[in-house]
Amino acid sequence: MKTTINDESKLKIAERLKPILADQFVLYTKTRNYHWNVIGDMFFTLHIKFEELYNELALDVDETAERIRTYGSNAPGTMSEFLKLSSLKEETAGKYPNQLEMAKNIANDYDLLASRINEIGLKLQKEFGDEITAGKLYSIAERYEKHVWMLKSLFKN
Ligand SMILES: [Fe+2]
Repeated sequence: MKTTINDESKLKIAERLKPILADQFVLYTKTRNYHWNVIGDMFFTLHIKFEELYNELALDVDETAERIRTYGSNAPGTMSEFLKLSSLKEETAGKYPNQLEMAKNIANDYDLLASRINEIGLKLQKEFGDEITAGKLYSIAERYEKHVWMLKSLFKN
């Protein structure tokens, strides 16, 4: 088993991390948007929950970006790059789904992101033997799966 990762591989790994960074940034923006614009009888619950989530995402974005820098590449840092790299859908400008739809959208995004992160983690382990980055990704995915459970519990009977 290889224990060192050469510079060429590190740059390839960084490329795999860029879409994750973009997804996290898009989700960060969506969660902030919903925090500001949610209305309804679950206002206080969701307003506070969305804030908790975007604060966590702000830290995650930083972790991912700095991992990319650690591996010698530049971290994407513009909205146009994020939108190009991300596979999550931005909320339509001026459109505000109802409170349950907001919770569902965020849950679905976390769900998608958790499985994508897991998939990339597996590839980093198999292709590059990068247990450290894979381990970081798995712990992120685990947290996101927990958010899915909690958010989905809001609208399940
Ligand atoms: Fe606020």
